[in-house]
Amino acid sequence: MYLPEIKSNIYYLGVNDRKKHLFENIVPELYQNLAQLPFAVHGAEQGVAYNSYLILDKKTALIDTVDIGMMPVFLQKLQTVLQGRTLDYIVVNHMEPDHAAGIEQVTKYYPDVIVVGNKKTLQFISYYFTGKFNTMEVAEGQEISLGEKKISFIFAPMVHWPEVMLTYEHDTQTIFSADAFGCFGTLDGGCTDATLDMERYDEEYLRYYSNIVGKYGNPVQQLLKKITAIDISTVAPSHGPVLTQKESIQKLVKLYKRLSLYEGETGVVIVYGSMYGNTETMAEAIAGQLSLNGVQHIRIFDASKTHASYIIRDIFRYKGLIIGSPTYNSEIYPVVSSLIDKIAGYGVKNRLFSAFGSYTWADQASKKIADFGQKMGWDTVYGPISTQGTLNECAFEEIAKMSKLFAIKLLQK
Ligand code: FEO
Repeated sequence: MYLPEIKSNIYYLGVNDRKKHLFENIVPELYQNLAQLPFAVHGAEQGVAYNSYLILDKKTALIDTVDIGMMPVFLQKLQTVLQGRTLDYIVVNHMEPDHAAGIEQVTKYYPDVIVVGNKKTLQFISYYFTGKFNTMEVAEGQEISLGEKKISFIFAPMVHWPEVMLTYEHDTQTIFSADAFGCFGTLDGGCTDATLDMERYDEEYLRYYSNIVGKYGNPVQQLLKKITAIDISTVAPSHGPVLTQKESIQKLVKLYKRLSLYEGETGVVIVYGSMYGNTETMAEAIAGQLSLNGVQHIRIFDASKTHASYIIRDIFRYKGLIIGSPTYNSEIYPVVSSLIDKIAGYGVKNRLFSAFGSYTWADQASKKIADFGQKMGWDTVYGPISTQGTLNECAFEEIAKMSKLFAIKLLQK
């Protein structure tokens, strides 16, 4: 069994999950175009890794466990690296079950182990497990000596859950960063940026951030302040590659700074629902006019075809957002309505915005989408624009006007 030593006496014990179709039973772990298709046909091309780490010193410390479905292979790895030694600590950086579900099983193998967490972690443990463990409550900054190595804790409430903390190993300057700096995709072969094909993960860092951490811009900024004040040589997250190269750490910190401030790149997402192609024709017309006015980065999504996690990824990526829908039972078309709910849930800020739609007898959807943009506090450039039936001349003229204004605003920012 290959168990990489990511730094001196720190081993990677993570596991690859290629079985699950949906992360958190909601986000596809597959490529975008396959997201809607049966798992059995295509397999999990990307999957996800649950990372865990073992520090060996006079004392031994495990950083998190893995998803319950992967525990048999994980326990084998743990025993292989321990080579008959006992386990002294399990540090619980995050209580979400993809990392914490295995705690109880590990304590069955190592009954004297001490489970380390903050006040909230220990509260949460009692909600998930009925067994009694040895526990140690730690405060932010508190140090635990393992021998040559020592670990301390940086609290990061709401960098996904309220109990989240990061563990810093001082000797190797390694930060075990929980969900922060995570990524979808399995780790095939190696586990570090020095050994993996990192280009593969570029899009998935963005989809992971936007869908898992995206809602928590302020907490991410607080965390960035804390970690940029310490020396870090290695970032060891709970999902995705371990970062050991200065350039990849800097690149990711830069990405987190930008995304946590909801600063979009110069580009536009046009997302629509369409039953018979009329709203889609409007989307194409808008894209054509934006292009005519100099906008290069345009992404069109049919909300019926593409899983929301990919659309949300690009909504976080780009500054411009244009949403369209036909009127459906006097409302917004259901897939667009569902996407809108998700966008509201993520609290996306600072977007240039317009709404459009088609109808036959009740002009409702585009107005309701425009109201949504107002509620989100976005900068509405123009509109809403609607067409009765197929795209008519009047609506096309409005599209041309809106697109010109949109491009001017977008390109001057
Ligand atoms: Fe990977 Fe918030 O758990």
